[in-house]
Amino acid sequence: MCPTWGCRRCYAPAVFHPHGPTVMELARQGLSSTRRGYDLLAPKFEYTPFRTPDAIMRVVGERLARRRPFADGLDLCCGTGVGLRMLRPLCARRAVGLDFSAGMLAEACRQLGGRGDVALVRGDVLTLGFERAFDVATCFGAFGHIPRREQQRFVAGVYQALRPGGLFAFVTVPTPRPLSRRWLYGHGYNAIAHLRNLLVRPPFVMFYLTFTLEAAQRLLAGAGFEVEVERGCFPAPYREAALVLARRAPHGDRHQVQRVQAAEWRLGLP
Ligand SMILES: C[S@@+](CC[C@H](N)C(=O)[O-])C[C@H]1O[C@@H](n2cnc3c(N)ncnc32)[C@H](O)[C@@H]1O
Repeated sequence: MCPTWGCRRCYAPAVFHPHGPTVMELARQGLSSTRRGYDLLAPKFEYTPFRTPDAIMRVVGERLARRRPFADGLDLCCGTGVGLRMLRPLCARRAVGLDFSAGMLAEACRQLGGRGDVALVRGDVLTLGFERAFDVATCFGAFGHIPRREQQRFVAGVYQALRPGGLFAFVTVPTPRPLSRRWLYGHGYNAIAHLRNLLVRPPFVMFYLTFTLEAAQRLLAGAGFEVEVERGCFPAPYREAALVLARRAPHGDRHQVQRVQAAEWRLGLP
């Protein structure tokens, strides 16, 4: 039976992978709000190209391992848990995954199992509310969901969540050359997304060409981070991608404020 419409005759083919979403399912997700769209996509998310590839995660894990020790780690917009799987062995105390989609968190919980050293938090990255609670924070494949006007707030929240000397690590790409294939694709997609959001409510917030390397460097420096960029460390076809390691200035009393303020803390999910 077709999982989207419940119709017995409709066998819409899966895109990306035999276990991936069908065209109809993708359309339904794209016409929902961002959060609801991910709730719907969650069971098939691992079979889409939207999940960060293992080849990227492996390199990030190796590079972060050289910068240990970390007691507490935070993966923002954790989705089904690919970043948490990388982060967990690097953190001596715990790895926390935060996402606003209950569906994605449930899938992460299913994949990671109920382990005491992993916590899943349902929350919005724009209102983090953590204060000096983590030694390392990561975010993968999700910057397109952060509207430009909110980027500064997002970066300030991450800075606040890190302890002095803490690292914010992520992967991004340089701004593409105007009229290059990637530039045209990004702007073409963004135009359609703006049109969709004008016509359909609630909006699906996802835009390309945001938080590119240059923009991210500016934002991070403005928030007080010391920024290091590693280029050429990813294998083909991700050679263009760069690993950004942004460090919160290592001054201040690390043990002064260790309060964790989260809207909702949960060890595992029901
Ligand atoms: C493309 S997925 C990436 C998941 C995972 N990080 C990965 O690389 O595979 C984007 C994730 O960001 C989450 N997300 C989007 N906007 C968010 C927000 N404002 N606060 C929290 N999570 C958000 C979505 O629910 C989704 O799980």
